[in-house]
Amino acid sequence: MSDVAVSIDSVSKRFRLYHERGTSLKERFVKAGRSRYDELLALNDVSVDIEVGETIGILGHNGSGKSTLLKCVCGVLQPTMGQVVVQGKLAALLELGAGFQPELSGRDNIYLNGSMLGLGKKEIDDVFDDIVKFSELEQFIDNQVKFYSSGMYVRLGFAVAVNVQPDILVIDEVLAVGDERFQRKCMDRIREFQEMGRTIIFVTHSAEQVRAICDRAVVLNKGSVIDIGTPGHSVRVFRENLLEAGDGPGAVVVPAVENPEVERTIDFVPQEDDRPVRLSTVQLDYPGVSELPYLKSGDPLSVKVGFVAERAVESVVFAITIVEPKGEILLKTDTNQLDMVFHLDEGPGEMVFQFPSWPLFDGEYKVSVGIQSRLGGVAYDWSEDAVSVEVLYEGQAGGLLNLPLSAAILSGGTALEEPA
Ligand SMILES: Nc1ncnc2c1ncn2[C@@H]1O[C@H](COP(=O)(O)OP(=O)(O)OP(=O)(O)O)[C@@H](O)[C@H]1O
Ligand SMILES: [Mg+2]
Repeated sequence: MSDVAVSIDSVSKRFRLYHERGTSLKERFVKAGRSRYDELLALNDVSVDIEVGETIGILGHNGSGKSTLLKCVCGVLQPTMGQVVVQGKLAALLELGAGFQPELSGRDNIYLNGSMLGLGKKEIDDVFDDIVKFSELEQFIDNQVKFYSSGMYVRLGFAVAVNVQPDILVIDEVLAVGDERFQRKCMDRIREFQEMGRTIIFVTHSAEQVRAICDRAVVLNKGSVIDIGTPGHSVRVFRENLLEAGDGPGAVVVPAVENPEVERTIDFVPQEDDRPVRLSTVQLDYPGVSELPYLKSGDPLSVKVGFVAERAVESVVFAITIVEPKGEILLKTDTNQLDMVFHLDEGPGEMVFQFPSWPLFDGEYKVSVGIQSRLGGVAYDWSEDAVSVEVLYEGQAGGLLNLPLSAAILSGGTALEEPA
């Protein structure tokens, strides 16, 4: 059995939310005898053992208890029930500005923070220059930190936390505040920590970060643990929970463009009335589409395009564009390029674009479709972002594209039986 760095054992945390006191005599009278507060269970019986050398992510909606849990781990808050046992020196980067004295300079705060982490003056002297250098705040180190920007707070906080050689590093979401370059620098430092076998507890909203750096993740929902597992699994549970909560990306199958006001021209759109053919619906199909709000990476995907032709139309081409989560065009093509041009009969009809496999990573992919004539490239109709598909990937790989891949040993060894 491996060593436990942080043991969180049946931890609950209750906050009292006090009502405003009635000011009139009558209000006070009416309220007398009733409790003047409600109780909020911010953490409900949370148990997690975090192993030495492990990087664990904590995922959850706003208000789910992530910061409260970290504060209980750091000893800033006392659990109402249960206990936390920490083995080793712990350094934390909690909420913005936590642990800083606004009236003191950056320099004095480094000494203050260091001493709170148990370092003597001499030890802090030794790492002082590294801290300042990492934070890149040389010019500002003698200014009062109350004049620091939020990004500067994070720089200083992170620089202290990673330079005091903690065994356990605890980071609340704050890293998102820094600029991209500094974030990368922090991530590099976190990786170094991992290589040194240190323990990291990491709160984030980013599924990508969880995948990129965590060994395991915990999903909190309203103060309770709803999942502890591999990053892929936890991200899936988190996403499902997000979708259930109704504030996620929402239903995936969007009945598209009854009234195609969103049409865009490719070259030009003929006058409304002249249009010989229009889009009526765009729908997605994939395994489990009626129950699952997401497509599993690697599964097949079909995009069904409904249309209505006012009259018979010759030489029609259907076009499709797919935009990946960061907004780059992933694919832009049309049936002409697939050597298919259609004759349409008068009346309604349906065609389909079929992807035998969708080997892509997490995120929301947007699909736009259009109908155009082959000759002259006239766009009869176009529906921008007609539907979107949410993709869930449960594995550990990363990158741009999850290319189909297999491996074998050709000589010089044998493949072991897959571990149970
Ligand atoms: N000191 C406090 N007094 C009263 N309620 C509190 C206190 N601290 C936190 N809470 C409540 O506890 C719940 C959990 O808060 P917490 O800050 O842990 O959430 P979180 O998961 O970190 O959210 P976010 O993603 O917004 O940072 C919230 O309902 C919050 O209002
Ligand atoms: Mg928080």
